Amino acid sequence: MIITNESDKKNMAYACRIVAETLQSLKGIVRPGVTTKELELYAEELIRSKGGIPVFKGYKGYPSGICTSVNSQVVHGIPSACVYLKDGDIISIDLGVKYKGFIGDAALTYPVGIISDEAESLLKVTEKSLYLGMEKATDGNRVSDISSAVQKYVESNGFSVVRAFVGHGLGKNLHEEPQIPNYVVGKPDYLLKRGLAIAVEPMVNAGGYEVSILGDGWTAVTVDGSLSAHFEHTLLVGENGPEVLTKL
Ligand code: MF3
Ligand code: CO
Repeated sequence: MIITNESDKKNMAYACRIVAETLQSLKGIVRPGVTTKELELYAEELIRSKGGIPVFKGYKGYPSGICTSVNSQVVHGIPSACVYLKDGDIISIDLGVKYKGFIGDAALTYPVGIISDEAESLLKVTEKSLYLGMEKATDGNRVSDISSAVQKYVESNGFSVVRAFVGHGLGKNLHEEPQIPNYVVGKPDYLLKRGLAIAVEPMVNAGGYEVSILGDGWTAVTVDGSLSAHFEHTLLVGENGPEVLTKL
């Protein structure tokens, strides 16, 4: 949605602040030996203590308040008391929060202990591609300006951009118009307007871009077993670049 009035903007910004603070706090909790279920419980309690509601829970039947996707899992990994993080893993944590009717959504991939050079590079390239994409979120640009910036940077570094999932508009709903692909699709190409709230979220694989869904109906994994990273921010399109709301 396009957010123009100050009170809507304040609530949206606060939802996003809860998301950002929760992702920041999780940095202190992600370590070898912790289970993804413990991460979920920690995050949910923190979100609620700040007055927010985890919006993923129950969304299209998704069973958890956050997504925890480890190594070759791309997105929508379901937290589990049986999944223990170990040294050298990477884990993408994605969370959405509703506050006074407005929604913020962000994700980042954390290193667990010491990770490989390839994993390190994957994380750096994915995060940088998000920033290069967000830079294009300017009034008068097109969605494809974002998509193209992400795709070019990722592919020039030898990695691939996932096609099966895309970024999205948001506001009062988690998923609104327009879709924000991380690769250039062609027409129709949406015109970005000042105040439009969008989530830009590149998912980048070290190998091929193909993904498949596990038997739980949610967890997306790389088909070739390669590592995958995911960075996401919610922002408002501005006159001269984005106003990133899920950044502290
Ligand atoms: N950031 C993801 C998205 O925008 C997470 C959604 S998880 C779900 O699609 F459970 F809510 F589906
Ligand atoms: Co999202």
